Amino acid sequence: MSTVSTPFLSVRDLKVHFPTPDGIVKATDGLSFDLEKGKTLGIVGESGSGKSVSSSTILGLHRGSRAIVSGEILLEGVDLLQVSDEDMRRRRGLDVSMIFQDPLSAMHPYYTVGNQLVEAYRVHNNVSKKAARTRAIEMLERVGIPQPDRRVDDYPHQFSGGMRQRAMIAMGLINNPGLLIADEPTTALDVTVQAQILDLLQDLQREFDSAIIIITHDLGVVAEMADDVLVMYAGKAVEYGPTKDILVRPEMPYTWGLLSSVPDVTADTSAKLIPIPGNPPSLLNPPPGCAFHPRCPHVSKVPGDLCRTVQPDLVPGRQGLGHLKRCHLTDPDEVYALEVLPEIDPARADELAHELAPYATDEKDPQ
Ligand SMILES: Nc1ncnc2c1ncn2[C@@H]1O[C@H](COP(=O)(O)OP(=O)(O)O)[C@@H](O)[C@H]1O
Ligand code: SF4
Ligand SMILES: [Mg+2]
Repeated sequence: MSTVSTPFLSVRDLKVHFPTPDGIVKATDGLSFDLEKGKTLGIVGESGSGKSVSSSTILGLHRGSRAIVSGEILLEGVDLLQVSDEDMRRRRGLDVSMIFQDPLSAMHPYYTVGNQLVEAYRVHNNVSKKAARTRAIEMLERVGIPQPDRRVDDYPHQFSGGMRQRAMIAMGLINNPGLLIADEPTTALDVTVQAQILDLLQDLQREFDSAIIIITHDLGVVAEMADDVLVMYAGKAVEYGPTKDILVRPEMPYTWGLLSSVPDVTADTSAKLIPIPGNPPSLLNPPPGCAFHPRCPHVSKVPGDLCRTVQPDLVPGRQGLGHLKRCHLTDPDEVYALEVLPEIDPARADELAHELAPYATDEKDPQ
């Protein structure tokens, strides 16, 4: 998380609302975050929480749609929401690019992989087709496609899923954009290929010094890739901060739910997997108060009807600067250590209970 006055990317109070015949779908509802070059932000949340809408808005893909967009998307100080369509088209691919979960639908089936790379390069560079082809082959080699000088003439369907994803990454990075958005880039791949693709992204990030936003529902991916993590629920950030804080001492029950429901975050093989009960809410008519309250097992720990009636603000957590959470619980650490961790990681629960013991005593001591 940045303390520099002008971050590379600064998203401020971004709202993306869709008017529909049934009412307004608040897909993104007041999102703020910063990201520096060479760093990775993981945006995590269940399906329908507004991750893709938020990130495609950064790319300007909402333009020409019915979406009502407000806030600021400052890239090196320039508000992308205010630039002309032509300027945004120029920046897309050059300053900001995106790789998608499903390369087969993002790539054109009737053009060779090479032709698509050549086009992506020539849109932004005044070079011959031959020079662009050389660049395309270089990029295919860089992302680990074997025999790139031959495979460059293949069509997307001739590539395996993992190779197509590599080719998408090559296309996303061919103009060396400062910001790369990867929307569930490994969800469709098997675990081994997923690990290879994540390694590749990290290598390329070091080489190109790109800022990366990686969107995922998998906290394992976040643990491996992200410097900061933003947990989204119902179009809003519910927890945000450095990955090491959020994964070790999360303070928001929805994040606990995500941690409890995925296998790869904890190394403890005896850990239980506990799915979050119920379904994510409709963004047309989200629940009042805390949007997570109908699914939250900790509502009774908050006095009165607060969870059902008052939406919590996004405020600093107990770990100080940079860790924000949106929840009314006053003693989240204790609840996490005593109730959540024993279920999912008993060894870590003992450690955390010890760490918390001194100040738990302080707080509860009437003296
Ligand atoms: N063009 C649109 N019109 C109306 N609602 C939309 C539109 N695009 C997305 N949504 C809604 O916005 C919400 C968030 O979608 P999305 O960002 O795709 O979620 P995620 O990527 O987290 O799975 C969903 O409820 C989706 O139905
Ligand atoms: S505010 Fe209440 S309902 Fe929401 S996460 Fe916290 S305890 Fe659960
Ligand atoms: Mg999505």
